[in-house]
Amino acid sequence: TPEEKKLLLDSIRDIPDFPKPGILFKDITTLLNDAKAFNLLMDHLTERYSDANLDFVAGIESRGFIFGAALAAKLGIGFVPIRKKGKLPSTTIAEKYSLEYGVDEVEIHIDAFLNKEGARVLLIDDLIATGGTAEAAVKLINDAKAECVETCFLINLTFLGGVEKVKNLSPVYSVLEVI
Ligand code: PRP
Ligand code: MG
Repeated sequence: TPEEKKLLLDSIRDIPDFPKPGILFKDITTLLNDAKAFNLLMDHLTERYSDANLDFVAGIESRGFIFGAALAAKLGIGFVPIRKKGKLPSTTIAEKYSLEYGVDEVEIHIDAFLNKEGARVLLIDDLIATGGTAEAAVKLINDAKAECVETCFLINLTFLGGVEKVKNLSPVYSVLEVI
């Protein structure tokens, strides 16, 4: 409902000039700290995905871990971490993506989906900006032989157009849009 959206939006703090001058940072720590807002969000996501026949939730390091792990536990399915380069201990697949300056890389364990071919996976992260991180993560899920059923974000910074990069690979859902 509009009231619930407002409660969620109001629980997210705007920090000007972080991490660089000119960037208005969306700080979700205040949402996590607000039990009513955090529960409202998790109940909404649980309701949205409880009949989606998902096998796994995958979350992107690090803020995607918080929502992804909580949602997986609520849905009673496994959680798969997609991590920044060099953090996962077993055999991995890697995907590079571009940032404003330079490139970064994310990885997934090659057997993350237990070699269950066509496993139905929901990808989750806190926020989509340029879409580079999420695009790389969807590719990793596909390379690990699973299907990314949907990509879910708490916040979509629509003015950066990130959804355009992801939507040809996976349907995209966002709870809140910032224009
Ligand atoms: C932020 C955010 C998303 C990503 C979005 O994470 O949490 O994961 O950037 O950016 P993009 O759409 O332009 O790719 P960040 O890399 O800052 O790391 P963190 O989650 O560990 O804080
Ligand atoms: Mg992140």
